[in-house]
Amino acid sequence: IPYDPYHIRSDSNIHFDFSCADGRNAALATLANLGRNSTLPAAYAHHTNAAASSHGYAWIAAIPAAVYMLQDQEVHAAEMERTFIAIKPDGVQRGLISEIVSRFERKGYKLVAIKLVVPSKQFAEKHYHDLKERPFFSGLCDFLSSGPVLAMVWEGEGVIKYGRKLIGATDPSKSEPGTIRGDLAVVVGRNIIHGSDGPETAKDEIALWFQPKELVSYTSNEEKWIYGVN
Ligand code: RTP
Ligand code: MG
Repeated sequence: IPYDPYHIRSDSNIHFDFSCADGRNAALATLANLGRNSTLPAAYAHHTNAAASSHGYAWIAAIPAAVYMLQDQEVHAAEMERTFIAIKPDGVQRGLISEIVSRFERKGYKLVAIKLVVPSKQFAEKHYHDLKERPFFSGLCDFLSSGPVLAMVWEGEGVIKYGRKLIGATDPSKSEPGTIRGDLAVVVGRNIIHGSDGPETAKDEIALWFQPKELVSYTSNEEKWIYGVN
């Protein structure tokens, strides 16, 4: 078998006998996919060249990669937090969906759920229940239920707090330039976007807007470049 350090052979008869948790299975599934159609990053190959070439079996290169990915996924599974972000009817109508989504994407957060919905007023009242004593409550709920809302769940380290930073202060006249509201909105009643304000509200809002099966867990190809400790 000719040795190619950058490929795992898809026809190799590799059998891993881990009696293991889901995270490990996921790592191995990822490994199997790598074998099918893609290249190993140079960093993995670098660590494994010697072992693989001395035995002449490229598949040996897969073992350290599997262990690396397995650890990586388990660490992230424990750490990743999620937040609920919604583009309100004004943001949708003004054609700002791609602008806003791209800011979260470019930061390095991962989209795990997305849908366009027109909420009922009753639903809007549930969403903003903590504001029911405020004078603008009814008008706010009328507005949220007046048209399409893009509901999303974003995942990443610190995404709840930093998502709020990306969004900016509630009143766009006080939001810093560079923030979504600072750059794209003018008045508090049309501030285009909502973001959960803490871990508890994030959990409640995700559960209000999405069924568990609508949340998609996957490993982003970029994660190994976004997270890391030196
Ligand atoms: P959001 O919940 O929408 O992310 O906004 P936020 O946390 O920054 O602000 P919050 O106090 O939760 O207010 C919710 C939404 O109510 C509208 N609002 N209008 N004085 C007013 O007219 C007023 N104050 C707040 C805004 O749309 C705000 O986003
Ligand atoms: Mg709020």
